[in-house]
Amino acid sequence: MTTVRVGVDPPYDIHIGKGLLERLPELVRLEKRRVLAVTDRNVARYHLAALAAVLDKAGVPHSSAVLPAGEAGKDLAAVRKVYEAAHAANIGRGDLIVALGGGVVGDIAGFAAATWCRGIGCVQVPTTLLSMADSSVGGKTGVDFRDRKNGVGAFSQPEAVIMDPSLLDTLSPRHAANGMAEVIKHGFIADPALLDLLESPSPSMEEILVRSVRVKTEIVQRDPTEKGDRALLNFGHTFGHAIESHYRYKKWLHGEAVAIGMVLACPDPRLPRVLERWGLPVEDPRLDPAVLIGLIGKDKKLIRGTLRFIRVDEPGKSRIEEMAWAEVEAMVGRAAAAAQERRKAAATK
Ligand code: GLY
Repeated sequence: MTTVRVGVDPPYDIHIGKGLLERLPELVRLEKRRVLAVTDRNVARYHLAALAAVLDKAGVPHSSAVLPAGEAGKDLAAVRKVYEAAHAANIGRGDLIVALGGGVVGDIAGFAAATWCRGIGCVQVPTTLLSMADSSVGGKTGVDFRDRKNGVGAFSQPEAVIMDPSLLDTLSPRHAANGMAEVIKHGFIADPALLDLLESPSPSMEEILVRSVRVKTEIVQRDPTEKGDRALLNFGHTFGHAIESHYRYKKWLHGEAVAIGMVLACPDPRLPRVLERWGLPVEDPRLDPAVLIGLIGKDKKLIRGTLRFIRVDEPGKSRIEEMAWAEVEAMVGRAAAAAQERRKAAATK
């Protein structure tokens, strides 16, 4: 097991290691506390019984709120379901919510914990690589409101994060690759040694997660509420979000859209190589550059003709840039030309 401390106020630990779900009672203070496990129907099928058995063995009273699975259910109705379950189980100020699931569950459960009784403890137990690499760390919680992604929410750090890579065994290859996009993002914005690891013959998932989590932790510590440097974590996300929403979240998974977005935003040829090695797309050949430009124009970060953009000058060196609109257009043009070259090279191989 490796423990990474997140030095925010109050600090908390991220524990990473196989089999850690069973060791939850050693890692989290549970005496005289009730637990409300929040999960979704898919995750409940695979992992809820295991969590319940661990809590039974430790003599901890517990109950659960099982939500419908999927991004479409990330709304205030889901938060209400958690409140109803918390009310029914008499969950009070000193008790604990355990978020068992992917990013959607983590965001809903984290927000419910931040607001129930003016805030109770929350332990994140991510079950997808995407949530281990990204959303379970850093305290962003919330739900969508009408067409506003994460329109209602709070920065609220968890009490602890328990990352057990053995929970990833039930993921499909596509969902495993989806999470790897955020890991690769961390390598490009801040840690070239993580990229070396990802290019090595058979790296361990635990080692990958530790390096990836250290990158995110270091940035969150510097800027917990995204007033500055935390925006570096949005590398690839301006294009990624535009692409995801263009297809109404039906064509690409989040990580896949971010992978395509990173390649559009950074010309380094190492980036598509690493992404492809981990089964991720590097372009959307059906998306015309002109359409893409139009989508970005609608992005909320467009302020007075400039766009706040994350640039990676070389692996490990990233910065925030206010980019003029003409430069955004030129960047998309260059990326389209590079994609054409890659396709030509692949065809002549
Ligand atoms: N997913 C980016 C962040 O946590 O800030």
